[in-house]
Amino acid sequence: MPKPRTSFVCTECGHRQTKWTGRCPKCGAWNTLQEVIEAPETPGGKHRARPAGERPAPRPLPDIRADDIARIPLAIGEMSRVLGGGIMPGGGVLISGDPGIGKSTLLMQMAAAVAQSGLTVLYVSGEESAYQVKRRAERLGGVHPNLFLLADVDLHNILAQIAAMNPGLVIVDSIQAVYLDDLSSSAGSVTQVRECTAHLLRMAKEGNTPLFLVGHVTKEGNIAGPRVLEHMVDTVLYLEGDRFHSYRLLRSVKNRFGSTNEVGVFEMGPSGLQEVSNPSEMFLAERLPNASGSAIAVPLEGTRPLLVEVQALASTTAFAQPRRTANGIDFNRLLLIAAVLGKRVGLRLSDQDIFVNVVGGLKITEPGSDLAVALAIVSSVRNRPVAADMALLGEIGLSGELRSVSQLARRLTEASKLGFKRAVIPRSAGRHARTDAFPDDMEIIRARSLHQAIEAALT
Ligand code: TYD
Ligand code: MG
Repeated sequence: MPKPRTSFVCTECGHRQTKWTGRCPKCGAWNTLQEVIEAPETPGGKHRARPAGERPAPRPLPDIRADDIARIPLAIGEMSRVLGGGIMPGGGVLISGDPGIGKSTLLMQMAAAVAQSGLTVLYVSGEESAYQVKRRAERLGGVHPNLFLLADVDLHNILAQIAAMNPGLVIVDSIQAVYLDDLSSSAGSVTQVRECTAHLLRMAKEGNTPLFLVGHVTKEGNIAGPRVLEHMVDTVLYLEGDRFHSYRLLRSVKNRFGSTNEVGVFEMGPSGLQEVSNPSEMFLAERLPNASGSAIAVPLEGTRPLLVEVQALASTTAFAQPRRTANGIDFNRLLLIAAVLGKRVGLRLSDQDIFVNVVGGLKITEPGSDLAVALAIVSSVRNRPVAADMALLGEIGLSGELRSVSQLARRLTEASKLGFKRAVIPRSAGRHARTDAFPDDMEIIRARSLHQAIEAALT
């Protein structure tokens, strides 16, 4: 095989040259030249005719069968669901998350589960020694003759070993550690990461082998630079959590094989990540039912509703400018809710510091949780608790009106399952939502405005 050539391409104007220079000679932009590998020249150029057997022809859609591809079942239910129901052969999955969050642990558990089901698995470790990985596998009870370990960072060898072994699943931990020595840039650079990923993905597609890559998140929160990998792979999963809490959320942010925003909940324990089958119960476990400044929101995490406690504390400020602190909700959303409470409800917040916290370190992004945030604040300011058996659902508009929330029936059912007897929902909701699917044993209070919701919810 001819050795691939490298060249440098300007990301601004597309100018191509053989040497790196700080400034693009064509458009004059600084630091825009990126190293790329040129494909070796093929006889007849790029568009050479392929033999007839290799040329795909168009087929009518009914003749194309989706069930030709059988997914590999995965015994870890929460992970399987996030992937869209098992592992897709030939699919590339990127798992990323903060260091120490448990990516290697989760993948080792997955490797062990797949090995136990009878497939061979190759775990490529570029960061830890074979001994360290073995120790982790022992701790997780995952040592199995079908599970192979390769501790290497040289991509040529990794690809050669995969070709020789033809495993049923390949895991590369991590993509930033491996490198191609054809490139002059160092391991972990954008060029290296992109080229190595492209090679591995091609190998996965050709061999119909599922591929899992670990990608580290950079300081800016991107995976190896400006999300270079996310558009290359089929599925992107984030493993999230809080260093001070033991639970972990596995979230799909992109999935060509299933729905996105699906979330799996795990708890990190002495023998690895355990699935949490009832996460709402876990998030509410330490709640003090009649304390002021606490309200229950029901955000939808993926397709699953979760019950979470929102806490607020308002205290008279010692500063000229009162402080606002948001933990687990968007800061600007807090400012908006506080402004609506001041202007439309007449709550005096100009001399109050406000702290809002979502219990358990969870992050809620949905505006449907606005009402719970607002009530936690009002409850703290007035020092009156929100009814202990009440869930709050609704987005707050700038006029102080309550706006409807999607999938109300599913959220209310989850609240009812956990013993909540009442819920405040937006009045407009009934027109679109299927009210017949609301749980029977729940008292549903419809409020048109934030003002009405406050009247109904505070005891
Ligand atoms: P690890 O999977 O190495 O994280 P990552 O690959 O994302 O960097 O896991 C890191 C943490 O998990 C480490 O602090 C130890 C802890 N851990 C447990 O609590 N229980 C376990 O069974 C294992 C294997 C790890
Ligand atoms: Mg790791």
